[in-house]
Amino acid sequence: MNIMAINGSPRKNNNTATLLGKTLEGAQANGAETELVHLYDLNYKGCTSCFACKRKEGKSYGKCAWRDDLTPILQKIEQADAIIMGSPIYLCDVTGQMHAFLERLVFPYLTYTEAHKSIFGRTIKTGFIYTMNVTAQRMEERGFRPTLSWIEAYLQNTFGHCEALFAYDTYQFDNYDKYVVTIFDEQLKAQVRDTQFPKDCDSAFTMGQRFAEKAL
Ligand SMILES: Cc1cc2nc3c(=O)[nH]c(=O)nc-3n(C[C@H](O)[C@H](O)[C@H](O)COP(=O)(O)O)c2cc1C
Repeated sequence: MNIMAINGSPRKNNNTATLLGKTLEGAQANGAETELVHLYDLNYKGCTSCFACKRKEGKSYGKCAWRDDLTPILQKIEQADAIIMGSPIYLCDVTGQMHAFLERLVFPYLTYTEAHKSIFGRTIKTGFIYTMNVTAQRMEERGFRPTLSWIEAYLQNTFGHCEALFAYDTYQFDNYDKYVVTIFDEQLKAQVRDTQFPKDCDSAFTMGQRFAEKAL
């Protein structure tokens, strides 16, 4: 069992990376081999609309033909038993790097045929972890949950499975005193960090354990 985690945060040791690390700890506890990829270490573009992945009898049919640092990662995903992605919310969506990654991951497998039939060829587990400053209620009020649901729908369609995990009201700065912040109360943030975030870590750990249990 080989499980890959993809970190869409520029920060390697903060909320998103911590939760992804917990999923991999859970997976390792159940015997899986794991790898964590930091997208911000890689030099790559989103889909360039070359359509080589859709060309009739093309040698790259169903595969991304663009060559850059993402190429070996996409090749490894072809063999993976599960993928767990994570991203902070930036401007009510996933980060630009994560979005570019998703374009390159999903679009080659998505066919322009009825129901966008996937040509990935296997069913594997996928997970998506979102971390954000706002509370669950504020996410609904701001109306960006449906945007995120589309990501899960594309992953479900492509790989046959997707589940999401949300970490709200995250602690953003190492020291709130250093920054101009009037809309967040540091003490309330610290309380969430000390009480809720450990529970989110537990949920991430059990997600990793479940993902490593058996292939779909
Ligand atoms: C450029 C930028 C845009 C952000 N936009 C949002 C947003 O729209 N909604 C939100 O809830 N949090 C937003 N945040 C906060 C992050 O999503 C939050 O701090 C997240 O947990 C950071 O993840 P990390 O610790 O893994 O980097 C933004 C942060 C940055 C740097």
